[in-house]
This record gives sequence, C-alpha cells and structure tokens, in this order.
Amino acid sequence: MNHILVTGGAGFIGSHTCLVLLKNGYFISVIDSFINSSKKSLENVLKILKKNHIFHEKIKIYEGDIRDTELLNKIFKYSRENKLEISSVIHFAGLKSVSESIQNPIKYWENNVAGTLNLTNVMEENNCKTIIFSSSATIYGLTNKTKFKETDPISPVNPYGTTKFVIEKFLETIYSSNLENWRIANLRYFNPIGAHKSALIGESPIGLPNNIFPLINQVAGGILKELKIYGKDWPTYDGTGIRDYIHVMDVAEGHLAALKFLSNSKPKIITINLGTGKGTSVLDLVKTFEKVNKIKIPLNFVDRREGDVARLVADNSLAKSLLNWQPKMKLSEMCLDGWRWQLNNMNGYND
Ligand SMILES: NC(=O)c1ccc[n+]([C@@H]2O[C@H](COP(=O)([O-])OP(=O)(O)OC[C@H]3O[C@@H](n4cnc5c(N)ncnc54)[C@H](O)[C@@H]3O)[C@@H](O)[C@H]2O)c1
Repeated sequence: MNHILVTGGAGFIGSHTCLVLLKNGYFISVIDSFINSSKKSLENVLKILKKNHIFHEKIKIYEGDIRDTELLNKIFKYSRENKLEISSVIHFAGLKSVSESIQNPIKYWENNVAGTLNLTNVMEENNCKTIIFSSSATIYGLTNKTKFKETDPISPVNPYGTTKFVIEKFLETIYSSNLENWRIANLRYFNPIGAHKSALIGESPIGLPNNIFPLINQVAGGILKELKIYGKDWPTYDGTGIRDYIHVMDVAEGHLAALKFLSNSKPKIITINLGTGKGTSVLDLVKTFEKVNKIKIPLNFVDRREGDVARLVADNSLAKSLLNWQPKMKLSEMCLDGWRWQLNNMNGYND
C-alpha cells in the first residue's frame, strides 16, 4: 500500500489534500503541531468520508513538530515495523504570514527552513526520497509580467517568500548531490481559496487572518466591520492588486497529480505553478462574492502594504502538460463554497 507522510496535514490545504489522498486509496500519517490548525479538521475529513471504518484505519495522526527528530524517526520506524513503509512526504508544515515574517524573520527561518532541513535529514536516514513541497508564487517578487512561468527570475520581497525560495534551492542541491535517488516537486501555489462543498473543512485562521478570503468571510459574517483594501493605485485595470485565485480542492488534486507523476517517473526535480492562469482584481473578487452570495461587503481603502505586488498570475501550462492536471472550479464556486464554510462555522473549528 502507498503510505504518505503529510506534514501540516491538519491545515487548510493539508486537510483538503488528506481527503483527496484517502479517497484515492492512500494510507496517510499526519504530523502537525496544530500551531495554526485544529484537530477537528481531520475528524471532519473522516466525517466527509461518512465515518467509514476503512478510512479510520488508513490515517494516523501525530501531534508534534517537524523539528522533532526523534518523533519523525519514530513515525518512519513504526511504519516500517508495521510493513507500511512511508514512500513519500507531502510537506505543508510551515508558517505563512507575510507580515509576521517581516516582524519576526528568525521564527520563519527556524520553523520553515530548519524544519525542512530536519525533515529531509530524517527522510534520507529512513530511505524515503520523494517529497512534494508547498512553495509559493510570492517568490516571483516584483516585476510587471502578465503571467509567471516557473523559469522566470525569482526575487522574494519578504522573509516568508525568502524561506520558500531557500527551501526550493536547498531541495535542488539535495537532488543534484544524488541524481539516482530523489524525486522532488516544488509546487508554487498562487492564491488558494474556497472550501470543500460539505462545509466541514475550510480555512480557519487563528487570530486575525492574513489572506483576503477569510477576511471577506469575516466581514460578510459581521465579525469584522469592513474589508481593508491595501492600495487603490496599483498599476492594474481598477487600481487594486490582481491575484490568481484557485479553489483549494483543485490545489489538493494538484498534489495527487504530482504524487502520481513522481511515482511513475525516474528520479527528478520539478517546479510547477498551481494556479488557474486567470487574474482577478481584489475589487472583482469582492464583486463576485457579493453577487453569488447576495451579501454586501463594506470596503475601506488604505495604503499599500509592505511586501505586496501589483499582479501575480500563473502560467499554468506546465502543470497541465506534465501533471495532466486542470483547475476545474470557477471563481463563483470558490466564493460560494468559501462562504458556505464560513456560514456553517462562524468561528472556524472553534464552533
Ligand atoms: N494558503 C496559501 O495561500 C498558501 C500559498 C502559498 C503557499 N502556501 C504554503 O502551503 C503550506 C500550507 O498552507 P496552509 O494555507 O494550509 O497553511 P496552514 O497554516 O493552514 O497549514 C500549515 C500547517 O502546518 C502546521 N505547522 C506549522 N509549522 C509546523 C511545524 N514546525 N511542525 C508541524 N506542523 C507545523 C500548522 O499547524 C498547520 O496545520 C504552507 O507551507 C504555506 O506556506 C500557502
């Protein structure tokens, strides 16, 4: 049986990916410190799967940190002893707030970079050499390009982005040091939003959200008074920033596609954009949300934020051709599914 270790699997993208993996017959072990997530997310993944006992037996959850060498070794050893050797790792665990990373870069280097060093070290010791890493489109940095290709220059503009870039580079060096062994996929996500249609799993930020969609949800839900829009003077068609919003289920499916691709290929390293290829301004995102959900979102335009860029849209042709993957969900579905999650869980998993 194919056994995947999912780091950070209780988080937003991780929980949706765990659902996809379980549905596709994988056995999974999750390690999560729950620093930015709840144990309920994976309980709810099992609820979506109708409490089917087969699935209960196919998931094992470890509460702990990826910097804990002993725990990681224990997970690999336990799996081996139970004849369920871990074949690959999907590595979501990481801190992701741009603003927090600007205030506290050491925390980000320590958690994201040192955490990944520890993880890959333990993987090597345990002869597991396939990893899918959660990278980010934020590493493309400041340019005026309409769409970003994987080969475009990288220039992260904040410490969070720098940790992602450094990890990609680090994984490249691991790959080149031993060409016969490692299979690596760096997946650069654009802007994952939305939630599973069941409204049982979704994005449940701890504290004030950093990303736009949970902020819109909280304004719509009356938790926040208004939506702050950072800058109305960006060089874009309506002056607000343009992003490539992608449904979180499409992102989750992208991991399945990458896993299948790596398992069927020779050792290699690939770097892939996961986006829809469509740019949407903040104002257009708000308008779509308002239209499909019939809710008014009060806006407040404020100054630009440090570390932001005008436009970040994926050229996703490589993902389509190499992974045979297609984003399926429209912006309207992202807004409907995301709001349905919020409406059913006003305080996220704390309800
Ligand atoms: N959501 C996005 O917009 C986005 C965009 C690009 C890249 N990413 C990256 O994708 C990954 C997943 O993002 P997400 O939105 O699901 O975030 P998330 O915060 O919901 O999930 C991350 C998970 O990792 C856990 N975690 C963090 N540090 C850990 C550690 N040291 N040991 C064990 N567990 C730890 C958290 O508790 C959380 O469950 C992150 O690495 C993030 O940087 C996210």
